Amino acid sequence: MHIELFLVSIVLHYTTAEYYKTKPDFIQTCLKSDPDFDECSRQSVQKLFHALGPGLPEIDVPPLDPMKIPKIRILQGDGPVNVNAALDDVTVTGFGETEVLLSQVDSKTYDFYTRVRVPKIRIEGTYDLKGKILLIPLVGRGRCWFEPKNMTIDIVSDVKLYEKDDFVFFNVTSAHVKYTIGGLTLRMNNLFDGINSLEDSTNAYLNANWRPVSESLRPILSKTIEDILLGFLQQLFHNLPGNFMIGDIKYNPSKKVDKKV
Ligand SMILES: *[C@@H]1O[C@H](CO)[C@@H](O)[C@H](O)[C@H]1NC(C)=O
Ligand SMILES: *[C@@H]1O[C@H](CO)[C@@H](O)[C@H](O)[C@H]1NC(C)=O
Repeated sequence: MHIELFLVSIVLHYTTAEYYKTKPDFIQTCLKSDPDFDECSRQSVQKLFHALGPGLPEIDVPPLDPMKIPKIRILQGDGPVNVNAALDDVTVTGFGETEVLLSQVDSKTYDFYTRVRVPKIRIEGTYDLKGKILLIPLVGRGRCWFEPKNMTIDIVSDVKLYEKDDFVFFNVTSAHVKYTIGGLTLRMNNLFDGINSLEDSTNAYLNANWRPVSESLRPILSKTIEDILLGFLQQLFHNLPGNFMIGDIKYNPSKKVDKKV
């Protein structure tokens, strides 16, 4: 057994915005008291994804597709993966095609449970890497791309409710993801400073062994997705009243006091 020690840091720029004071057209309101809440909620979240594709500039939510991330830093210590990497000027395409498979909301805590499928994601950027994947030492810097296919993501988002003006908002405090992928192709240009034979054979090897490669990167990828998702959900839900999503949402601040006992 080894200890996975890693750190992911992501730079995203969010600013404070004026929140929606009237319900935007792309929101389908559901009622928790409706026996078909889950199906209503699934449709509602699907519509939300469509609206998020081009972004919501009025509340400073950047486009989801393509998503631009200025910088991702990854540091991981021991284990089969030992990586010190930076990805700059990252563009992620594909989330516009997200299919929402399931959306549930906890009756007491309002935590979200969401399952989505994304047919094809492409991540492009400039990498700077020094480390080991599957015990192969990798060093290089240059352009790269990764394409996970048929990604199914289970997302649990923990929320706390709070009130502002006459609205109830979701304060998303953490996001946990579990995912499966059906395939992964990738290319890292200029590996080993462009020793061509080594660059090509290593890329071929990583592609041929995509399953163990993606398994070894799982902790890093999960954390990266969680961090990006959390920033995104926070920006969205601090500016989109929960009442518009769930018409009969109940906020009971006294519950917080009970917890102290
Ligand atoms: C995608 O993955 C899911 C879950 O692993 C699987 O059930 C489904 O058949 C896959 N779809 C395609 C098009 O590969
Ligand atoms: C959201 O939750 C975090 C963590 O508990 C807290 O620090 C922050 O003040 C909360 N924000 C609002 C607006 O309630």
